[in-house]
Formats: sequence, C-alpha cells, structure tokens
Amino acid sequence: MEVVQEETAEVPDQEHPEVLRARLVDGLVSGGWIRTADVEAAFRAVPRHLFAPEASVKAAYADDVVRTKFDSDGTAVSSVSAPWLQATMIEQARLAAGMRCLELGSGGYNASLLAELVGPTGEVTTIDIDPDITDRATRLLAAAGYDQVRVLTRDGWYGAAEHAPFDAIIVTAQAVDLPPAWVDQLVDGGRLIVPLRLRGLGRGVAFERHGTQLVSRETQMCGFVRMQGAGAHPMRRLALRGDDIGLRFDGNYPAEPELFDRILDSPRVDIWTGVRLGPRVPFDTLKLWLATMFDGYCGIDVAKDAATESLAPEGRRPPGDAVVDGATLAYFTCPKIAEALYEFRVHAFGPDATTLAGDLADQIRIWDRDHRNGTDPRITAHPAGTPDRDLPPGRTLDRPHARITITWPHPDDPNATSHGSRPTPS
Ligand SMILES: C[S@@+](CC[C@H](N)C(=O)[O-])C[C@H]1O[C@@H](n2cnc3c(N)ncnc32)[C@H](O)[C@@H]1O
Repeated sequence: MEVVQEETAEVPDQEHPEVLRARLVDGLVSGGWIRTADVEAAFRAVPRHLFAPEASVKAAYADDVVRTKFDSDGTAVSSVSAPWLQATMIEQARLAAGMRCLELGSGGYNASLLAELVGPTGEVTTIDIDPDITDRATRLLAAAGYDQVRVLTRDGWYGAAEHAPFDAIIVTAQAVDLPPAWVDQLVDGGRLIVPLRLRGLGRGVAFERHGTQLVSRETQMCGFVRMQGAGAHPMRRLALRGDDIGLRFDGNYPAEPELFDRILDSPRVDIWTGVRLGPRVPFDTLKLWLATMFDGYCGIDVAKDAATESLAPEGRRPPGDAVVDGATLAYFTCPKIAEALYEFRVHAFGPDATTLAGDLADQIRIWDRDHRNGTDPRITAHPAGTPDRDLPPGRTLDRPHARITITWPHPDDPNATSHGSRPTPS
C-alpha cells in the first residue's frame, strides 16, 4: 500500500536530511573512507537525497547503495553507489580546484561531489550509455544546482576525446579490459580509478598513467554493476548436477565442458591445509592470490536448497572459489575445528584430484605464509602487443586491449601497502 505523506507533516529532527548527512559524513571520516578536508567538505555540501528520489531520506543517507534501474532478470544495472566507495574512489582521484575530470557511468550525485572538488574553474563530464540515466542525471543535477556538469549519452568505452585531456577518469561500471581511450585521454601522471574484474573477482584499482602504462597506487575489493556496450564481457556459468551447483568462468570457460557432467559422482579427495583463521576474518587477498596463481580459477555457487553431502564432509559449502584443470575440479571449505577457530580444507574430484588438491592446498599455505598479513599486489597495465620482456615480473592476464600484470610484493618489501576491503557491491 502506498502512503502519501501530507506536506505539512513534521519530519522528526533525527530524520532531517542535514542531520542524516552530517551523521553519514562523520562515519565516513571516522571509518577512514574520507581522508582529506576537501573531500569532507564536498560530502557535507551535496544533498545526496536529491539524487535518490526513489529511496527514503533515511535510505539515501545509509552508507549503502541505492539501486535505481534493473534489467529483466532483476539485476541492478544502475545505482547511486555506496558513499564509502564513492569517498574511496574520489580520494584516490586526488582532484583539486581547476582540474578536469571524466566520470563514466552517471547518476548525478558523484558528479556533484566531483564538481565541488574541481570548483568553478574545473570541468566535470559524465557519460552514461543509457539515455534514461542521463535524462535523470540532467534533471537531478539541475534541481540540485549543479548544471555546470556536462552530461553525455554514449558508450563510455570511447571516453570523450573532444573534452580531453582529463586529470582523472573515474569509471563506475565493472570493466574487464582497459581500452586505449582511457589511457590516451588522461594526462601523464593522471589517475584512472576503475573497478576491474580479474578472473571474476571485483577489485577497485587506482592507476596512475606513466607514458603508455598504468601502475596501481591503491586497490580495494569492491563490486559494481556490469559494463554495457563495447566493453561488455559476460561471465559464463557451467551448471553441475542439474542447476544446483555452478562454476562461473571469466574468459577461461573449459574447452570440453562435458567432461564435468558427472564429476561430482566420482570419488572425492579431502586435504587439511593447516591454515587457520578466526571468525569473520576477511580473506579476499586469498581469492586474488588463487586467481593469480591458477589459470583455471573460477567461482563456484551452490543453490540454497541443494544437497551438499557429496561436496565436503558434513556437507560444508564452499565460500565461492574453485579451480579446474583439464577434467579435474578442486575447491575449499572452511569448517569450524574448535570454538572460534576455522581451518581451510581442500576437496577435489576428477582424474588428477590428488595433484590438484595438493596444488591448491600448497597455494593456500603460501598465501598464509607470505601474503595474508596485508601486502597488496601491484597491478600494471600495458597496451596489448607489449612484448613479455617489457612487462614487470608476475602473472599477466591478456585482454583484447591490455596486458594486466599482477605482481605480489615480497613479504619483506618495505614499500608493500596494506589492503583495504569492504565486500559490499556498489
Ligand atoms: C553504478 S552506476 C553509476 C553511479 C554514479 N556514478 C553515481 O553517481 O553514483 C553505473 C552506470 O554505468 C552505466 N554504464 C554501464 N556501461 C556503460 C558504458 N559502456 N558507458 C557508459 N555508461 C555505462 C550504467 O548505465 C549505470 O548507470
């Protein structure tokens, strides 16, 4: 039932937009998401609720995403991103008065924050592929007093060459590749802030341009709505046991998927790793470590009501990561072994189950020894066609336009930075 509120109805003080906004910004500052006075001032100035008219004022000022458009499957294709993530990406962009900034993926709110930061002598251009979104953004920006923001309807994959060069480009849809336009339209030393999908894992990367290459300065775990247009690159899912279990591949779909038809009916190998962790301890660097080390890294999902007895002892569910090699499948679970203590355990099926289970367990142990305590990998991107000898050491993921190399610093490297994470989608 829809309830219409009378215009004269009093809003309790604690629900006032200004009060809610002040509380949200205080939380972003104390949580470390806002790090500089200028970004704090921008968040205090822009009325976020005016850019989320579909949500209540309270929901607009929650530190959470407001989804604004869905596709026919009910998946969000547009949203006002979560404030902690917007603050993180804007801080990473290092904007100052007079700079020129390009935002790919519009909504209006983020562009207004950018407009506050670059001021009247700077320029903000925002692009969306969807005319519904640009119409909405144009309307909301004008109503909130930010009509100096330039709104363009087009595929952001090609940027906006006529308004380049930009000091920063902020991409707000998930990308699997880095097209030449984003590098060419950036000043040297400028920042490209982009949520990348690396073998299915969402990782926000703040790159800096150095000539034709991009070098990461900061990364964090994050999810975003999918890229549409020329850069769209859907993942492929291989259904096992009816549709109860699925393996999700990001460009590395098995050449002979039928080999997996009855794989879960074969004998299972189980290996304890000896790697333990406490409750609610994040292990997103483990995921990225495994995605870096195994070409056959994929996601595994299990339906809520699926029978799980054959997957692991006591029917434990995998938290989502798997590896395939030929016709062999391995994944891990994290069963409780004592009060407030869990241990990674590997399971595998197929002709080389013992070998693949051993390899996966070894990589979990290496992550535990060398990378668990806060060393971020460095991510670099070179144009496609760059010879191997010009790439930094590490594992390279080849995309149509970019060679993306992931380099894990040696654990004793004094320049290694600690990693940030907050596994909520945008
Ligand atoms: C998370 S929303 C943008 C949020 C916005 N930056 C804000 O103010 O919070 C992502 C947007 O990216 C857009 N998008 C997806 N693919 C695109 C593409 N190739 N070019 C431009 N926009 C695209 C979607 O239509 C969607 O509106």
